[in-house]
Amino acid sequence: MNKLIVGNWKMNGNLSLIDEFLHNLDAHVILCIPSVFVAYAHLKKPTLQIAAQDCSVYSDFGAHTGEISAKMLSELGCKYAIIGHSERRRTSNFDTPSNVFAKLQNVVKCGMTAILCVDESYSDLVDNQTKEFLKTNLNKVCIAYEPLSAIGTGKVPSLTEISETLSKIKDAYFGVQTLYGGSVNLSNAKEILSIELVDGVLIGGASLKLTELNKIARLS
Ligand code: 13P
Repeated sequence: MNKLIVGNWKMNGNLSLIDEFLHNLDAHVILCIPSVFVAYAHLKKPTLQIAAQDCSVYSDFGAHTGEISAKMLSELGCKYAIIGHSERRRTSNFDTPSNVFAKLQNVVKCGMTAILCVDESYSDLVDNQTKEFLKTNLNKVCIAYEPLSAIGTGKVPSLTEISETLSKIKDAYFGVQTLYGGSVNLSNAKEILSIELVDGVLIGGASLKLTELNKIARLS
């Protein structure tokens, strides 16, 4: 089975970049685009595998200005949603472990797969209720291990370090699917994807370059 190739555009891109990707992206890439582009991309290419970059902690309609619910994202074609990315945990007090748990439930309840992001301090970030939830929802959640030291820095841990950490995460969380993220690019993707415990990669900067992303996708 192909490993998951997930591109996280973060707050980047515009309509013309979306158009370029819609026409030429390798079919098994999952693309996390800013939420404002989700409807456009889905309506133009319903087969595109779209992931949201976050969702609201609130599950239902309501007076929550600026929030976007998991239900809305799923209606617009998102099949996956990133939850608890470190850039949100660090910039928003709202992404506490218990709020990330609420988001996780919202995502799974809407039929999407959650990509739960953690860093080196994963055991503090995954609270007990999240752990319990994981036990019974293993087919709807994967954990993306993104060390803070590797995000956007070009400094990837050694293959042994990645493998050892993913092994600990799988042991702690019932064999959950694990992705690696942090400075993945065309020159290191092959060896990272060759690690047995890597079930996929979460790619930031390099996912904005269509040719590079497609080449990475073809490695898996
Ligand atoms: P980079 O690949 O740019 O280091 O970003 C990793 C990341 O945060 C993906 O979610």
